[in-house]
Amino acid sequence: MKNINNGLVYFFGALGGLLFGYDTGVISGAILFIKTDMSLSSLEQGIVVSAILLGALIGAAIISPLSDKYGRKKMVLTAALIFAVGSLSSAFSGNAIILIVSRILLGSAVGGASALVPLYLAEMAPAKHRGTLATLNQLMITTGILSAYIVDLIFANFSGGWRIMLGFAALPAIILFLGTLFLPESPRWLLSKGKENKAFEILKNLRKRDNTSKVEQEIAEIKESNAKESSGFKDLMQKWIRPTLIIGIGLAVFQQLIGINTVIYYAPTIFTDVGLGNSSAILSTLGIGILNVLITILALFIMDKFDRKKMLIMGSSGMVVSLLCLSFMSNISSEVEILGYATLAFLCVYIFFFALTWGPIVWIMMGEIFPLKVRGLGAGVSSVANWTTNLIVALIFPSFFEKFGTNLFIFFAVMAILSIFFVKYKVFETRGRTLEEIEMTLYNKKSKI
Ligand code: BGC
Repeated sequence: MKNINNGLVYFFGALGGLLFGYDTGVISGAILFIKTDMSLSSLEQGIVVSAILLGALIGAAIISPLSDKYGRKKMVLTAALIFAVGSLSSAFSGNAIILIVSRILLGSAVGGASALVPLYLAEMAPAKHRGTLATLNQLMITTGILSAYIVDLIFANFSGGWRIMLGFAALPAIILFLGTLFLPESPRWLLSKGKENKAFEILKNLRKRDNTSKVEQEIAEIKESNAKESSGFKDLMQKWIRPTLIIGIGLAVFQQLIGINTVIYYAPTIFTDVGLGNSSAILSTLGIGILNVLITILALFIMDKFDRKKMLIMGSSGMVVSLLCLSFMSNISSEVEILGYATLAFLCVYIFFFALTWGPIVWIMMGEIFPLKVRGLGAGVSSVANWTTNLIVALIFPSFFEKFGTNLFIFFAVMAILSIFFVKYKVFETRGRTLEEIEMTLYNKKSKI
């Protein structure tokens, strides 16, 4: 193996997250122009917006499990190609049907990447830095969302600007494809296929500071945890693996039920609802996008210092408070200016807690909790659960919001309260332990689940 820089491995390993963020975020601004250009009905608009989510749940179901068979690298390359083709065909689509089909295709790459990237990063990283390195995925997602907001803003005044907004994603897709060609395959996956020499070579290269015997020890541990089970759907339901499936799906579903994407996709709607004008609404949304990135950078630094469970519970508690404030605020004041600022402030508090905790940790844990042979499959199933819930919330939010206004946030607050109980009683801690230790604990039923 060529001596490739670790920073580059982690950077390109996480780049799929950027496309995930960009492609899901870009439609919020683009739809305003697509709907007039293509004279879409509101139903058609809804379908164009959610097509990517539908594609994502299909992609997560297919692409990630295939990585157990064909390897992580080949499937990331496949996703990168789909990203490029999907972006270009969305940009050039001549009617709504082609646009919707292209967005579904693009979505399948988003869904595939959403499960593959954290899994690849978790498998490459040493245990003590795994949280930080896997947070890179979330940093890429949030940067992707922010870039999409910015590109939307820049091209809003160009005729046919929406085509540039959608097509722009082809550029990082090509970079992802080329970069991935030079990435090493995951040594853990190679070992599961009996390719020990190659795995050793890659791991030795990745752990530059470790001596040979330490690397040999890591290899031995991976082999030991490999020896005891076979792979497949049935295995996910085995008694010792089932708790991880419940955790994976539970975390994935709660991440969406606490309402994050009502903010990410519909922030301008929320702001205009409380009385802000269009331009202040767009500017405030940009502010939220920037905060989301900044707090994720903070998460990067603290991720391996505090237990994941404690952070999740802290995050949920903070979000409960901000959601309740958001919902009761309109009962306190009817002054547009006060309401506007208060909404912005509470949404910022909400984003602070999400970006520090539930944003990164859900995807980190999806790459950590499953035993090696069902890791792709387990991450895929959890990711499908995430996209399905995302799709449902995104589809019904506008009509419920029209009916209940900001009172709707009470529902998300209740979900956040339930998430605290879920984390406390169902989730086990993964910080600082190697993937093999986690797996062994589960297998020996000595787990502290
Ligand atoms: C979630 C996305 C969300 C993003 C916001 C991710 O962890 O899975 O649904 O849009 O965070 O930053």
